[in-house]
Amino acid sequence: MLKYKIIAGSLSLLMVTGVSAQDTSFKDTLALQGLKLEAKALNYQADASKGEALANQRCIACHGDAMLGMMKTYPDLKGQKAAYLFKQLVDFKRGDRADPLMQAQAGMLSENEMKDVAYYYSTQTASNLSQ
Ligand code: HEC
Repeated sequence: MLKYKIIAGSLSLLMVTGVSAQDTSFKDTLALQGLKLEAKALNYQADASKGEALANQRCIACHGDAMLGMMKTYPDLKGQKAAYLFKQLVDFKRGDRADPLMQAQAGMLSENEMKDVAYYYSTQTASNLSQ
């Protein structure tokens, strides 16, 4: 019985560490931003492959290297912090950051999609663009 308890104990410990090692919700950082988010959005685990698909579909036209090279004021999203990117998207959608292009883009995204795409870009290496 005692042996069973020890095994069960270490199993649950393993599960807890397993979950925290794969925590892609970045909710601790989001909590520092003062954004009001529902628990469901806060706890959502971002999925980099969903984010990549979305980025290739809707964002690459402006945030891909080809456009970044031509448009000096378009920001490179790659390698920026996930929570930062997420907050910008929420701010655009809520009208707390103004930009006609991006407010239209962010308006089409759910908070979960924002997390996916923000997380995806944060895993990429910034483009090495000349000034
Ligand atoms: C039509 C062009 C266009 C498209 C498409 C577009 N963006 Fe943008 N994005 C911009 C421009 C221009 C800015 C700079 C806005 C400013 O000056 O405030 C920007 C800014 C941003 C920022 C803020 C970056 C920072 O460093 O503060 C984020 C985040 C962002 N875009 C994410 C996205 C995502 C995610 C998508 C796809 C769903 C997307 N954008 C699609 C043009 C675009």
